[in-house]
Amino acid sequence: MSAKILALCGSPRAGSNTQAYLEAALGVLKECGAETELVELRGKTIRSCQACYACWRKGDGVCQIQGDDFRPVFEKMLAADALIVGSPVHYSAVHPDLWSVLVRAGFPGMAGHPHSAPRPFARKIGGPITVARRAGQNFALAQLLLWFNINGFIVPGSIYWTVGVARSAGDAVKDTEGVDTAIQFAKNVAWLLEKTR
Ligand SMILES: Cc1cc2nc3c(=O)[nH]c(=O)nc-3n(C[C@H](O)[C@H](O)[C@H](O)COP(=O)(O)O)c2cc1C
Repeated sequence: MSAKILALCGSPRAGSNTQAYLEAALGVLKECGAETELVELRGKTIRSCQACYACWRKGDGVCQIQGDDFRPVFEKMLAADALIVGSPVHYSAVHPDLWSVLVRAGFPGMAGHPHSAPRPFARKIGGPITVARRAGQNFALAQLLLWFNINGFIVPGSIYWTVGVARSAGDAVKDTEGVDTAIQFAKNVAWLLEKTR
């Protein structure tokens, strides 16, 4: 299968659980022949949307915030056929670094386009994985699913919601059901890519 898959990891810590679930998913897609890349937001500076509406007015998809690490990440998102995002759950929500990327990527994507016009992420395939010690995975998952939905992605399911249960870095491997869920999600991404390309 010739396809580019990008995984964005929203965890700020090294060797994160989020990364482990994403790697489990990417492993499947790599076996299917896809070109895979995992981009960590850890250590990157991503400012949040300033609501200047410049991207919207100009309709060129260019965010006016300069001097941070958003642009190269956004370009990888545009180039990918499938996008998987992973977030640790912090206070029942998506990590702010990942959310800043998604908000800034989504708005230029809609900018200047009438509602019927094609958008840069329309009919791409993808979905989220969220990871928490105990609670809040589904809130964060829903937050991310709404982003995928409004941006026109096709999101396959899995054998369970794509959530992980893990506390300390490295715990993800003990959550075999969570890892299996990430793997089955990736198999469904691969299946959809085959059917739709
Ligand atoms: C600031 C902060 C807030 C957190 N909030 C939650 C939470 O709401 N629910 C939960 O179950 N775990 C919470 N956790 C625990 C993390 O979700 C958990 O350690 C997870 O494995 C982190 O994933 P990572 O290794 O990918 O960073 C929180 C951790 C931090 C540092």
